Amino acid sequence: MSGENNKKYIVHPGGVIQGELRVPGDKSISHRSIMLGALAEGTTQVSGFLEGEDALATLAAFRAMGVEIIGPDKGKVTIHGVGMHGLKAPEAELYLGNSGTSMRLLSGLLAAQGFEVTLTGDKSLSGRPMKRVTDPLALMGADIETTDGKPPLKLKAGSQLEGINYELPMASAQVKSCLLLAGMYAEGKTTVTEPAPTRDHTERMLKGMGYPVDVNGSTVTIEGGHSLKACEIDVPADISSATFFMVAAAIAPGSDVTLKHVGINPTRIGVINILNLMGADIMLSNEEETGGEPVADIRVKYAPLKGIQIPEDQVPLAIDEFPALFIAAACAEGQTVLTGAEELRVKESDRIQVMADGLETLGIDAKPTEDGIVIQGGVIGSGEVDSHGDHRIAMSFAVAALQAGGSIQINDCANVATSFPGFVELALEAGLNIEVIDE
Ligand code: S3P
Repeated sequence: MSGENNKKYIVHPGGVIQGELRVPGDKSISHRSIMLGALAEGTTQVSGFLEGEDALATLAAFRAMGVEIIGPDKGKVTIHGVGMHGLKAPEAELYLGNSGTSMRLLSGLLAAQGFEVTLTGDKSLSGRPMKRVTDPLALMGADIETTDGKPPLKLKAGSQLEGINYELPMASAQVKSCLLLAGMYAEGKTTVTEPAPTRDHTERMLKGMGYPVDVNGSTVTIEGGHSLKACEIDVPADISSATFFMVAAAIAPGSDVTLKHVGINPTRIGVINILNLMGADIMLSNEEETGGEPVADIRVKYAPLKGIQIPEDQVPLAIDEFPALFIAAACAEGQTVLTGAEELRVKESDRIQVMADGLETLGIDAKPTEDGIVIQGGVIGSGEVDSHGDHRIAMSFAVAALQAGGSIQINDCANVATSFPGFVELALEAGLNIEVIDE
C-alpha cells in the first residue's frame, strides 16, 4: 500500500488523553485463528478479529486455498475448517501485503502440502529476511526457493518433512511458530528451543484446539499426525495497539485513559514492565482469562517519566512497542539506553534508524547503535518526519505531538491500516489532534 493512495498526518501539538477505549483485536492471535481454524475439523467462530490489512491478507490466502470463511463482520468470522489435508492449490500466487507473520507462518504451514505455491508481498515485505525460516525448513526436508534469501518464496509440491531439533538463533515467535506448524506435517517430533521467551500464542491456540504440544522451559515439542478441533476464539484487544494510548497518557499531563479487554499474555507485557520502570502510573483491573489468553483493562494516568537502561530480557516481550517507547524516552528526564534489540533493524522498516532520524528532526538527541539506541530526554520540536511506510512509526510520531512545540507532519501513513484500522478516529476521540491528508 505504501506509495500508492498514500496518506500523511498533520498532528497538532497539545492535548490530554482521556476516556475508555477499546483498540482493535490482537494481530498475532487473529492470524493464528484463521490458520488453525482453516485446518481444524468443524466450524470455528472468531470474535474480536482484527479487520486490518495484515490479518485480512491471511484470511484471503486461505479463501484462495478453498476454505469457506464468512465475514469479517464487526470482528466476527466463521471458518469452515477443511481438516489438516483439505487445503487446495490456489489459482495464483498468494499476495501477503506487508505481513511478515503471514509469510513466515505460511511458509511452515504450507511446506508439506501436495501443491506448489508462491508467497509474495509488498515492497517492505519483499526486503525482509526469510532464510531464518527457509533454512530450518530445508533441514526438515522442505523444498523452498527464495529470491536471495528474501520473498517471493516458491514452495514446491510434495515435500516429505521430518522432525528436527532446532535451536533458534534469534528470539523470534514467527520462526518458532513456522516450525511448529511445519512440525504438524512432519514425521516424528519437532523440537524448537528459543534463546529467550517470545509470544506463545501458537502454542496456546494449538492446545486450545486439542493438538498436543509439550512446553518445557524454553523448549517446545510437537509431533506430526494429530488433528485440530474447531472452537470459539475471543481475540483480545491488541496490547501493541493499546501501547500508543498508554504512552500518550504517560507523557501528556492531566491524562487518564483506560484500555479495555487488552491481552496481557506474559510474553507480551514488556511495554507495561518498561513503562513501570520509567515511573509510569499503570493499573490493571478486571483480569480474567478468555480462550486461553489472559486479558485486563489497563488504566494509565500521567506521571513524570525518567530515562532508564532497558533490561535486555524485556526486549522480546516488547519487540513491537519500541517505536512508541522511544517517544516515552524522548519525553523522560535523563537518558534511556536500549541494547540487545538488533531485531528492530529487520522489522517493517529499520526501526532503530527511522526512529532516530525522526527524533533528530524533532530536536531530540537520539543516537542509533548497532543493536539499540541512546535517547536523551528533551523538548520535542515540530517538523516533518517520514514513517517509511511503517505503521508503528507513523502512530508513534502522532503520539509525540502531544508534547511537541508545534505540529508534526508524518509522511507515508497508509500502512497504519495494516494493524490499526480506525486509529485516527480513536485518537481523535482520545484527545489527539490529527488531520489526515489523502495523497
Ligand atoms: C509476531 C512476532 C514478532 C512481531 C510481529 C508478530 C508473531 O516478530 O514483531 O509483529 O505474530 O509471531 P518476530 O518473531 O520476527 O520477532
